[in-house]
Amino acid sequence: MSKSFDVVVIGGGPGGYIAAIRAAQLGFNVACIDEWKNDKGGPAPGGTCTNVGCIPSKALLQSSEHFEHAGHHFAEHGIGLSDLTIDVAKMIGRKNTVVKQNNDGILYLFKKNKVSFFHGRGSFAQAVEGGYEITVAGAATESLTAKQVIVATGSTARALPGAAFDEDKVLSNDGALRIGAVPAKLGVIGSGVIGLEMGSVWRRLGAEVTILEAMPGFLGAADEGVAKEALKAFQKQGLKFEFGVKISKVDTSGAGVLVSYADAKGAEQTLAVDKLIVSIGRVANTTGLNAEAVGLQLDERGAIVVDGDCRTNLPGVWAVGDVVRGPMLAHKAEEEGVAVAERIAGQHGHVDFSIIPWVIYTSPEIAWVGRTEQQLKADGVAYKAGQFPFMANGRARALGDTTGFVKFLADAKTDEILGVHIVGPYASELISEAVVAMAFKASAEDIARICHAHPSLSEATKEAALAVDKRTLNF
Ligand code: FAD
Ligand code: NAI
Repeated sequence: MSKSFDVVVIGGGPGGYIAAIRAAQLGFNVACIDEWKNDKGGPAPGGTCTNVGCIPSKALLQSSEHFEHAGHHFAEHGIGLSDLTIDVAKMIGRKNTVVKQNNDGILYLFKKNKVSFFHGRGSFAQAVEGGYEITVAGAATESLTAKQVIVATGSTARALPGAAFDEDKVLSNDGALRIGAVPAKLGVIGSGVIGLEMGSVWRRLGAEVTILEAMPGFLGAADEGVAKEALKAFQKQGLKFEFGVKISKVDTSGAGVLVSYADAKGAEQTLAVDKLIVSIGRVANTTGLNAEAVGLQLDERGAIVVDGDCRTNLPGVWAVGDVVRGPMLAHKAEEEGVAVAERIAGQHGHVDFSIIPWVIYTSPEIAWVGRTEQQLKADGVAYKAGQFPFMANGRARALGDTTGFVKFLADAKTDEILGVHIVGPYASELISEAVVAMAFKASAEDIARICHAHPSLSEATKEAALAVDKRTLNF
């Protein structure tokens, strides 16, 4: 006997579980299917983000930053430590606890919102009168029917050709988050978001980290000024970078990993490391969804084809998050999930893709929203720029973290904010003000005229807005 629902969500990551909760809030009878298993084989909803992404990476970034502060920065505060050690197993155990708290939190939220949770793999069985039949293959096999289906099956790490992940020596994000002991030498392929965050974790704990990047430059998506400042800081910390490389072979037959590559000049090089993290992007995941059974259209890269409103080619089937176009970010997935639930309810769900913030949780943190200076130049937009360094901010000095700056880009004529770029302490938190300002189409002058608490890092944001009009007060 099939169980009937108004809405079935396949995938319980940030796109799926949030869509399920919002749909339930709107009065629908909702099921959410997720196959992620914890180490005991039980349910672990929350997807990549909760299990092997956002949450565990931030837990390890926090632990490793404490270690770095204790080892290198406590002394300047007059705090002495004679015997600093790192218990990696304990650090990983804490990370696992944080993950479990989030898994349990989502199960609680499902109960609270009366979302029926099914643990197992969901796949399309067939289209039926007025909807779809979905099979759940878990401890038992179940059949669900629904008028509306939201697919939120996420993404998986892309492997280098000829170097499959073994999660022992060649690590995806999964293995990179549970290395058992600090490797003496760690290689990272790809200087993107995961490479920088995971490279930072293991460097802080004592690994010698070398990052090999195919592109000739650093962090092409970020504002050039920010990328330059960040690269300088990372190199000073000891991260080693090589740009413009072409990897030819990854050999794991010896004790460690031997990476062969051509450098930017075309000369053959080798890098010997104990472990290798491969972080060269992610691919949409539709494995096991049986999309063919109902004719769900995928693109040439395997992503589900959707329009701007997350509608697929099938009536009543929607897709959100990493499995569709757009940035692979948890908050983007969540916004799409909410918007789809609201569209199903006949409301006007809306996602403004132009103001989705990006944050890289390194030290210094990097965060931005809107367009970069190089994009504005390429688009032929007349703009004014204003920048304020954390060096001139009292709170940053008190924190002992004065790297970086806040940069505003505003329309030359209207003064509307077109982009805000931050590299420095707590950029992840500071960027929210810029997102709100841009959502309300604020001008740089609006921010410059608003009272910001003193002493706070947010004063650097106000000062950068003042800098657009060349009238900073503290610099
Ligand atoms: P996912 O989170 O991948 O969830 C999909 C879920 O669907 C999974 O649980 C999967 O098991 C399940 N599933 C798949 N197929 C089926 C099926 N057929 N049946 C049942 N279940 C199925 N983003 C940020 O915004 N901030 C960050 O700080 C951040 N850090 C990251 C760090 C790392 C190391 C990584 C890898 C990613 C990070 N991301 C971050 C990206 C973020 O994790 C993703 O953008 C986000 O998880 C996408 O959400 P989703 O719901 O689309 O998919
Ligand atoms: P990425 O797209 O951020 O970076 C991949 C890097 O690898 C790029 O610089 C690319 O030029 C390089 N590359 C690609 N092929 C290569 C090759 N063969 N050899 C050498 N370099 C190569 O991808 P990443 O780091 O894997 O992360 C995937 C996604 O996960 C991110 O794009 C982001 O959407 C999400 N994420 C978000 C985080 C956040 O919001 N803080 C943290 C971590 C991941």
